[in-house]
Amino acid sequence: MYKHHIFVCESCQYETEKGPSDPALGKILRKNISSKVKEMFSTGDVCVTGSGCLGQCEQGISSVIYPKGEWINGLRPGDEIRIIEKLTKR
Ligand code: FES
Repeated sequence: MYKHHIFVCESCQYETEKGPSDPALGKILRKNISSKVKEMFSTGDVCVTGSGCLGQCEQGISSVIYPKGEWINGLRPGDEIRIIEKLTKR
């Protein structure tokens, strides 16, 4: 059983200077988080899963970390560290 399970919405869009963002940015963020997790944690400690809408559509990409049920919203690709910090500051 994983210590942490991170769900990242792959449907979120947010407003940019050029209009709504590409929802594929959620997939990019999820892949970036997975890469960081592989670098920094033991196999089997953390699972990263892409999801559909998590019902937290705000100003960026939404994610939630279980089992604590901790939400991190307003994410962009490049914000992987915001998630990693939540896992390491316990
Ligand atoms: S579309 Fe991402 S939380 Fe709703």
